[in-house]
Amino acid sequence: MTASTMKPTTESSAQGTASAAPAPLESAILGTYKRAPVELVRGSGVYLYDAEGKAYLDFGSGIAVNSLGYDDAGLKAALHAAAEGLIHTSNLYHTAPGERLAAALVARSFADKVFFCNSGAEANEGAFKIARRWARTQGDAKHEIIALRGAFHGRLFGTLAATDRPNYRLPFRPLAPGISIFERDLKELDAALDPDTVAAVIVEPIQGEGGVRVIDHGFLRELRAVTASRNIALIFDEIQCGLGRTGSLFAYEQIGVVPDILTLAKPLAGGLPMGAVLMTAPIASAMQYGDHGTTFGGGPFVASVALHVLDRLSDPALLAHVRETGAWFGHELGEIAHRTSRIRQVRGTGFIWGLDVMGTAAHVVSEAQANGLLVLTAGEYTVRLLPPLVATKEELARGLQILEEVL
Ligand SMILES: Cc1ncc(COP(=O)(O)O)c(C=O)c1O
Repeated sequence: MTASTMKPTTESSAQGTASAAPAPLESAILGTYKRAPVELVRGSGVYLYDAEGKAYLDFGSGIAVNSLGYDDAGLKAALHAAAEGLIHTSNLYHTAPGERLAAALVARSFADKVFFCNSGAEANEGAFKIARRWARTQGDAKHEIIALRGAFHGRLFGTLAATDRPNYRLPFRPLAPGISIFERDLKELDAALDPDTVAAVIVEPIQGEGGVRVIDHGFLRELRAVTASRNIALIFDEIQCGLGRTGSLFAYEQIGVVPDILTLAKPLAGGLPMGAVLMTAPIASAMQYGDHGTTFGGGPFVASVALHVLDRLSDPALLAHVRETGAWFGHELGEIAHRTSRIRQVRGTGFIWGLDVMGTAAHVVSEAQANGLLVLTAGEYTVRLLPPLVATKEELARGLQILEEVL
């Protein structure tokens, strides 16, 4: 930028003189998020600290990302070790970390092949393309993708068409065609699942953004049976509920349903951007060179770190902690609901819980924050709790105490 085209800083343009008080900081970041008036500067364990040194117990985990909490010694060591190696080479060559990570995901899941990308929405977009490519091998009309009422699969054009949030969708019409939302109703789905036109159904086993709705396991098993019998791919979006959050590495393991495609992101690389699409061999075999791609996907730096994270999140002791402590946590939430009469319903499992509250969830979020507890919303009336998976019972109890006081 030349001097004549450079914009003056807020301070010099607004105040004119150097001695005047600085104007409030105006963010140059596009205002797509309503940010809390807090600047976070560091974290340790399950606590975050703001610029004034105030501590916050974090029950949001950066929206289900920071499963190992903050300043974790193992994660830091993995980051340092990864920085000693290659950062990026492109996907035109092989690198060991990506190969090892894909092999580790395959070894631990139903999948035979993995595609790496950089976010959750990108993983789901990839899943849609992969499912369509496979379905088209059975007939040119077989392309429809079906999502369910309450779903959140991302905000890119394809995933937005599969996301059940009118306010997110309406300003951006027309959305991608061939993607529709149906009720979570087997009769309706049975009629909609035409084997000649439907390529895939995508489901979050626990709808996170949609209000922490644990989808009925019987429903998922029947959906699996119907989709399998009609050669329709079943995609599980485990971007929020996967990688240990329900107390098993993958949520599908506790449901007794094996999908054809599964998407991951959020905690996969410990806070670095990474997504993954896992799939069976028959689905993978339809994809040819050039059918999909992304410059950064599965690069050596991020994959090295993800290998460490995957190892940690697969630890049977950690998963048992999530199951056992999560069950206790849910019970305690029920007790708070009983004592305060400020909660209409408690839903969840493991370390993912939703509370339908009286009044708005946003109000509870800001009151909790003022009292040193970070929680999230999931829609207008649901408060969402996603503590780091390493949170101890004592730390969870402290958070519950603050929550009860706030309620
Ligand atoms: C279930 C689910 N799918 C997809 C996404 C989109 O992920 P990202 O924000 O990384 O694009 C999210 C994000 O919240 C999610 O919870």
